[in-house]
Amino acid sequence: MAEYLFLTCQAGMESLVKAEYLSQVPTARLAFSKRGIVTFKLPDLAESNRNHRPRGILPRTYGTSLTHVQVKPKSSPTPGAESGSKRIGARQFHELLQDAMQFGDAATTRELIQATIAAAEQTQLGSWDGLHVWVRDGLLPATNWSRLPNLELPIGWQRFVVQMTEALQAKNLVPPNTRCNQNAEYGQRVLDLCLVEPNQLIVGQHQVQHSFQRWSGGVIPPVPSAVPPISRAYFKIREAVSWAGLDLRPGQTCVEIGSAPGGSCQWLLEQDLKVIGIDPAEIDPTVINHPNFTHIRRRGREVKRQDLKNCDWLLSDANLPPNYVLDTIEDLVRHPLIKPKGLVLTLKLPDTKLLEHWHSWTERVASWGYTNTRGRQLVFNRQEVCLVATR
Ligand SMILES: C[S@@+](CC[C@H](N)C(=O)[O-])C[C@H]1O[C@@H](n2cnc3c(N)ncnc32)[C@H](O)[C@@H]1O
Repeated sequence: MAEYLFLTCQAGMESLVKAEYLSQVPTARLAFSKRGIVTFKLPDLAESNRNHRPRGILPRTYGTSLTHVQVKPKSSPTPGAESGSKRIGARQFHELLQDAMQFGDAATTRELIQATIAAAEQTQLGSWDGLHVWVRDGLLPATNWSRLPNLELPIGWQRFVVQMTEALQAKNLVPPNTRCNQNAEYGQRVLDLCLVEPNQLIVGQHQVQHSFQRWSGGVIPPVPSAVPPISRAYFKIREAVSWAGLDLRPGQTCVEIGSAPGGSCQWLLEQDLKVIGIDPAEIDPTVINHPNFTHIRRRGREVKRQDLKNCDWLLSDANLPPNYVLDTIEDLVRHPLIKPKGLVLTLKLPDTKLLEHWHSWTERVASWGYTNTRGRQLVFNRQEVCLVATR
């Protein structure tokens, strides 16, 4: 039987993801694709004798696409919900998920759930260890709608997830104690249900091999924080550390170039690290008044090497061109006093063409002794990517 792969990515990055994957597996064939999700028909594994795991930095997550389910919309005044053959935009899709009458409890949604159960049974691959139900394209607020995630999921969506979970449990397709969208464990086989349109869904699965595959749809679940996060960078650094599995420990020192207004420093301080923020701009009072925070109000290149001699982790989030960031970091890490264990660099991409330089960037970083390099376009990244390197 033919095997299909699904890959998810930041909305708008689909054509790059397609090109990148086809250059990795030239005999793959593009199949279904929508904003935020791309699928490929894979060549026969035995024939090609290759690993089809995507190697690029743009995929958020991936797995096997098993089948598609689509139900006919019933007539109703809301386009895209009960009426629509018409395609709806991301905002309208999102609004629909807020509405239990038009989505979660709607007749079309009930039919979609029934059809999904039938399709999942037909695969004869159940019972799965876990269940991830997610929406393509980062449509939920926890991903990229608003700057800061809203932990309240849309009510129609919540209804849908509960009903889907119960229906799968009733058919023993997932264990009775399954909690949908919990982080999965390494090695677990997870059923993926990706809503691509209000009346259309991809049934897939993956076995967890990477940190990001533990998260539903490859999206790190947001956590409530006692104090409101200062900026998106709060979520960026949390995601980077968790994805890359960095062993940040209380009492260690993190230095961030480009630290204002202070979101990532705020998260690092919450982890009981000592933080040095280098930025000519002002830092938020929550951070600047913290006893473990030091502000060096300079540009990265003007900083005194002596001030960074205890640096365990060196971060950059400065809004500067990637080569300028790498020049600055190289100047620092080549100094005998500065020996961080790892680097977390946000590289800004005003133009995605810059990604052509990815390999030369990682080679350059590796030449400083940071040979374990990896990259990801984080869910909380916008026009940028994250490069992590450790010794
Ligand atoms: C995206 S913001 C950083 C957000 C920050 N990481 C946070 O957690 O809130 C980019 C910052 O880079 C700073 N920046 C630009 N050029 C810089 C340089 N040469 N050295 C240090 N900071 C710089 C800007 O002043 C700006 O505050």
